Amino acid sequence: MDGMTTTGSPDYRDHGLEFPKDFVIGSATASYQIEGAAHEDGRGPSIWDTFSHTPGRVVNGDTGDVACDHYHRLDEDLDLMKELGLEAYRFSIAWPRIQPLGSGAFNPKGIEFYSRLVDGLLARGIRPVATLYHWDLPQALEDADGWVNRDTAYRFAEYAAHTVEALGDRVHTWTTFNEPWCSAYLGYGSGAHAPGRTNGADALAAVHHLNLAHGLAVPEIRRAATNDPDVSITLNLHVIRGEDDTSPEAKRRIDALANRAFLSPLLRGQYDADLLEDTAAVTDWSFVRAGDTAQIHQPIDVLGVNYYSTVTVKMWDGVSPRANADGHQNVGGSPWPGSPDVEFLVQEGPYTDMGWNIAPDGLEELLVSLHEQFPTQTLMVTENGAAFPDRVVHTEAGPRVPDADRIDYLNRHFTAAHRAIERGVDLQGYFVWSLMDNFEWGYGYTKRFGIVRVDYDTLERVPKDSARWLQEVIATHRTPSPVE
Ligand code: FCB
Repeated sequence: MDGMTTTGSPDYRDHGLEFPKDFVIGSATASYQIEGAAHEDGRGPSIWDTFSHTPGRVVNGDTGDVACDHYHRLDEDLDLMKELGLEAYRFSIAWPRIQPLGSGAFNPKGIEFYSRLVDGLLARGIRPVATLYHWDLPQALEDADGWVNRDTAYRFAEYAAHTVEALGDRVHTWTTFNEPWCSAYLGYGSGAHAPGRTNGADALAAVHHLNLAHGLAVPEIRRAATNDPDVSITLNLHVIRGEDDTSPEAKRRIDALANRAFLSPLLRGQYDADLLEDTAAVTDWSFVRAGDTAQIHQPIDVLGVNYYSTVTVKMWDGVSPRANADGHQNVGGSPWPGSPDVEFLVQEGPYTDMGWNIAPDGLEELLVSLHEQFPTQTLMVTENGAAFPDRVVHTEAGPRVPDADRIDYLNRHFTAAHRAIERGVDLQGYFVWSLMDNFEWGYGYTKRFGIVRVDYDTLERVPKDSARWLQEVIATHRTPSPVE
């Protein structure tokens, strides 16, 4: 469409918004969620193999054994990316494919696969954006206490160095971690994610060791790469709301645990005093050693931001049933060490199929707030998207998925990103989560986030209407007018 630009709608439903030429639009996936081939070509087991094969951990007992079979359908998937016009593809590298036991011998076949992926992207003019850790820790390292063990940080830096030595002439952006919040707090605090442990002190030790691993890996990446890549980390920062009298205190607590536990060491070189005080009954933080915060405080080229929805908090009165609608599966443990007295209220809809409230204003607010706190930091939306219970319509031209709800979600969040840019935020790009339906962690295959449908019986890929919408956004660098 070349018609009128409509801006400023109160509900973020603007159309015809133009994005800068150098704004990079792509899509994202993660290794365990799509690859399958869990036992092939020397891949070692990860904590997600163990977790998903443990009865009761994942809905329907689903596992990533086959997933989308991306490992065997690489060329087909690359062609699909090309057809959709992706400017960049954000994927993750499975550590246990590269180094099956997390220490010791490396596996050339693992490197070979990612090398083919990177070459395939470059051959199609797609920018490779690689994440080194999207949650699939080698099981052998978890057997040695996982992220609670400081040594895991050093193992990660070694794996990062080896991987970048092999691929570091071709990858445009290296991301150390995806959402260390989830690895630490869901993995070791609530138990909703692998390895499924439920100990607040362990969760906070994991926070620190993940931060340390980042700080150790960044100089290794810069040393090993030969193409001057961008180096980044992706966080799932929480946009925290609350109107109650007690909300300011609850917000401060959750901001400390969820946001500042990462942002402060990474970008300011410190852990904040209030975080240490709030959690003093849980841990004495003696796992932080002299020099650690300086090591963590490495300049990064891009800060990745994953955004889906908001949370709303207040302090619990200790009497009424405690609300814990924090957006995560409630499996017994708490992802909020030291804050059992904070409540997470049920928020106003509409909701996606995850039960997450749709709040595009939260994305604008988050980007602007980060820009205000760290004015020189380039940002990138590394994940945003929505699960909906798609329906397939059979037409003469073949199956079609008319996912107007997902298009609306994406359009509203593109509007939010655009507004942030207009307010001066240095936003480099945007990746839709996800390129294809996939293994949604504890929810197994029950939640569909893809812009491409995957039929799990035949593994056939069908671009949904949202994929065609994104294709148009990329081709025109403009959000289209609404479909009449
Ligand atoms: C994020 C994860 C990603 C996906 C989306 C829905 O937390 O990084 O792998 O599961 O949520």
